Amino acid sequence: MSRQKLHSINEHFYNKYGMLKQDFKIEIDDSKNEQLLIDIENNPEVFEKYFKQFAVNETYFFREYLPEIFLQIIQNMENKNEVRIWSCGCSTGCEAYSMAVLLEYFFPDIKYLILASDINKSNLQIVKNAGPYTERDVNRFKNMPSVYNDDLTNIVKRYFYINENYFYVNDKVKAKIEVEELNLNLLDENKYIEVFDIIFCRNVLFYFNENAWDRIVPKLANALKIHGAFVVSPYETAKRKLLDYFDLAPVKSLTGVYYLMRRPLKNNINPAEIKNVMVKENKKLKTAKKIDLNDELKQIDELPKNYSDIAIINKKNYSDFVYYNFNICNCSIIFKFYCDYTLRLKEGDVSFKILKFEEFENCEFDENNNEYIFKNCSIKLFKKIIFYITGYLRSILK
Ligand SMILES: C[S@@+](CC[C@H](N)C(=O)[O-])C[C@H]1O[C@@H](n2cnc3c(N)ncnc32)[C@H](O)[C@@H]1O
Repeated sequence: MSRQKLHSINEHFYNKYGMLKQDFKIEIDDSKNEQLLIDIENNPEVFEKYFKQFAVNETYFFREYLPEIFLQIIQNMENKNEVRIWSCGCSTGCEAYSMAVLLEYFFPDIKYLILASDINKSNLQIVKNAGPYTERDVNRFKNMPSVYNDDLTNIVKRYFYINENYFYVNDKVKAKIEVEELNLNLLDENKYIEVFDIIFCRNVLFYFNENAWDRIVPKLANALKIHGAFVVSPYETAKRKLLDYFDLAPVKSLTGVYYLMRRPLKNNINPAEIKNVMVKENKKLKTAKKIDLNDELKQIDELPKNYSDIAIINKKNYSDFVYYNFNICNCSIIFKFYCDYTLRLKEGDVSFKILKFEEFENCEFDENNNEYIFKNCSIKLFKKIIFYITGYLRSILK
């Protein structure tokens, strides 16, 4: 197959769906190529086969602290008369149905409607049928720490039924979900104006190229009511462009994950305004074996004023390390602190090429994991590293 023809498939996804250009190999028979672009559009199976090269459909119920974030948004809403929510890259609908069953269970008096949209026809069919979902889709929350685990177990018993080993959401909840095939990259800017109280767009923006990102984000912002909540994944939160339209709104949850609030005025954000929000330890999280988290956080809390533009946008505890996703000068960097005081640094959306960590004495680069390793990292060194990164990024971002 010629390079040019490969290129045409790549361009199709790049232009129509706003996907990032990928360095991928598609093996197709030369003679079928012309028909292929037509089939990609019209045949869901063909679409899915090639689409997988650009984006994944990964989703599951109650994903990434969804209950903690979502329930706080609802609690903080002033007007709960009729809540309109959009899951705008819904995959098979786990996100939309998670919100629906949480509302049914915790706020039975609230009227709500949820729009679930995507470009993937076969996934939308699963949303329409409210299943089939696998055991893994539904019960994955059990492997993750959450204050709501008992409630989620009750929720699954109450709102799901099982048919031939697959899970389905019941008809009452199914009736609350509107399903629409919608390409965010071609979204008409007049389609939704200040309609939604909440937009969930997690793990979707991630796949878009710069142009698509510029096109889509303002339209999604306009679709939200003022002060409405825009929820993205931690990596996506760190992107500077979002702050032109939204304020960071800290969720007092286990994770420190933010959601964003639609700003009343556009384009007036001063990045330095990002608040230094520290994550409070929650006793229900499993604590790392030898790390005294309280002490850890106290140390970070004591960072001098120079560090005011640092925020933790995500924190997770594993049995042998603590994971922090730090937002420093609007760039995201992942810190993994092991119980033997090894610190591993991984890039979020900042390129490590500009941060010359090798200048530090006891720093090694782990090529397999693409991480910098600092053995025996003391709090003093930890602070020095943060100071170094902050200073460096500030100077180049000026
Ligand atoms: C990884 S899934 C995320 C599902 C869900 N939001 C979650 O976090 O569990 C990404 C979804 O975005 C959808 N998507 C990708 N490009 C899109 C576009 N241009 N318009 C609408 N949806 C898109 C994909 O089809 C896929 O279902």
